[in-house]
Amino acid sequence: MLYDTPLAMYFLSSPYSDPIDPVIPATYAMLAAESLGLGSCMIGSIHPLIRHGAKKFKQHWGIPQKSVNGLVVIFGYPKYRFHKALKRSFAQVVSYDN
Ligand SMILES: Cc1cc2nc3c(=O)[nH]c(=O)nc-3n(C[C@H](O)[C@H](O)[C@H](O)COP(=O)(O)O)c2cc1C
Repeated sequence: MLYDTPLAMYFLSSPYSDPIDPVIPATYAMLAAESLGLGSCMIGSIHPLIRHGAKKFKQHWGIPQKSVNGLVVIFGYPKYRFHKALKRSFAQVVSYDN
């Protein structure tokens, strides 16, 4: 699930914050990793499992039992160097002229 990563960071929000809050620092961490020559990948599938269980894991790491939103980012040394990014196709891009 974490691809044998040497480093995983878990970004959590409190029950009173905006759902997007963990995503902002996670994205900055990915940019910082890139600037250090590291690779990174967002992992969204773990938080729901931790959120609804993993009581001992949360106790061990000081993670609040009632965190609502969260996101894991894994980091590593890239095996391959890419010189071009994939061109993503969005479902729809709409622009308006004033
Ligand atoms: C919010 C979010 C959650 C993600 N969760 C997972 C995940 O749980 N497991 C996984 O293998 N990839 C996950 N991904 C996909 C990878 O982070 C990555 O975007 C995908 O592998 C495409 O990589 P690329 O942009 O280098 O092609 C997630 C992506 C986003 C944006």
